[in-house]
Amino acid sequence: MSAAVKRSVTITLDGSNKSASLPLLSGTIGPDVFDIRKLYADLGVFTFDPGYGQTASCDSKITFIDGDEGVLLYRGYPIEQLAEKSRFLEVCYLLLNGDLPTKEEFGKFEKGVMRHNMLHEQLRSFYNGFRRDAHPMAVMCSVVGALSAFYHDNLDVWDEGARRIAAFRLIAKMPTIAAWAYKYSVGQPFVYPRNELTYSANFLYMFHAVPTEEYKFNPVLAKAMDLILILHADHEQNASTSTVRLAGSTGANPFACIAAGIASLWGPAHGGANEAVLKMLADIGTTANIKPFLDDVKAKDNSTKLMGFGHRVYKNYDPRAKLIQKACHDVLNELGIKDDPLLDLAMELEQIALSDPYFIERKLYPNVDFYSGIILKAMGFPTNMFTALFAVARTVGWVSQWKEMMEDPQQRIGRPRQIYTGSPRRDYVPMTERT
Ligand code: CMC
Repeated sequence: MSAAVKRSVTITLDGSNKSASLPLLSGTIGPDVFDIRKLYADLGVFTFDPGYGQTASCDSKITFIDGDEGVLLYRGYPIEQLAEKSRFLEVCYLLLNGDLPTKEEFGKFEKGVMRHNMLHEQLRSFYNGFRRDAHPMAVMCSVVGALSAFYHDNLDVWDEGARRIAAFRLIAKMPTIAAWAYKYSVGQPFVYPRNELTYSANFLYMFHAVPTEEYKFNPVLAKAMDLILILHADHEQNASTSTVRLAGSTGANPFACIAAGIASLWGPAHGGANEAVLKMLADIGTTANIKPFLDDVKAKDNSTKLMGFGHRVYKNYDPRAKLIQKACHDVLNELGIKDDPLLDLAMELEQIALSDPYFIERKLYPNVDFYSGIILKAMGFPTNMFTALFAVARTVGWVSQWKEMMEDPQQRIGRPRQIYTGSPRRDYVPMTERT
């Protein structure tokens, strides 16, 4: 734990003479946290925090979010600067290693990662086991989980070198796995990676190229892909990252842990929201339907939410949403799409929601997923691939957080407690005697 102890707070349990002095820890930025590790020993009580909204689960140096101000930093660098000036693989180096690489370090890193982007030929046969309409996230969970069978016996998670290679393999292979999930679903031949391309251009190539035609590279689209990957690369202790950390805390195989992260990301409250936003926009259809749709959301009669709005941490505009909204316009211009009805509808919906007291009072703003689906659709990705692309991008965040956890001397198995509200102890009654 590198957080400094500055103050403490004393808690006294009503009706007893027990009290505990809890150190107040300070990070470099962000609110202080109470260290409750001795609470049970001193007071015999636990804390209760469903959804972990108030609980810091670890000490991390990777990503910082100020949800009230709409700030996102990777290793201290603002997301806006990285989005404008950096490349995805450079951001991967930064997240994994803590600092930006020199030219020489970057060259070695890029070569090291890209050389791992092929899949073992035996992995091809896993795809054949799926129905062609299988959701790409189901395929991603399974194929990434299957990687653990290919890299297990010789992988010692306590060895620094083995962890680095596992990280390289995961970052490198994810675009191939995702592109092949798509190719399988449309019945096209798998396209093998090409190492003279950048990470993002290679991904677009494996996704869109067919053997019968020359593939035309579009640098604007490759840049947009890179931006999308940078914006989704890490987001501190979100649900999927916490899932990876929890699974990894047992010493489990990292490929299996990332498969668990993919499962967690899939849900519509998390990474599945980008897919859900497009479905929602299609359902709304026209601007005339926005008001009745929002009335439905606000009535809370059913589980309808304004997808792409709200965030557990951001109580302000998600900085990633601003960047992706701008990129959306650039991509549509490049593709010669003058008016995109979906983008127009999304912008109108955003404006109406942002001036509605329901959303204002609850501090609900657009998040990264509000516009990401529109840009991905324009780039030729089918809706059901959106969350898989998020998984490709987030893999570096997952492995960086997993690596950090494994290297933390205070690392312990993750094991939350509970408040039990079920039946007290009772004795078994034979079935014949039950009434
Ligand atoms: N539409 C309508 N009402 C909402 C929404 C929304 N999108 N989000 C939150 N609320 C309401 C919620 O019903 C609650 O109202 P009340 O106080 O009357 O009970 C209030 O706002 C507070 O919300 P909450 O449910 O306590 O917030 P949370 O932190 O538990 O949930 C969230 C965060 C992201 C799951 C939620 O905002 C949501 O479901 N949003 C839509 C899905 C979405 O866009 N997810 C992507 C998140 S960003 C990408 C990522 O990191 O994965």
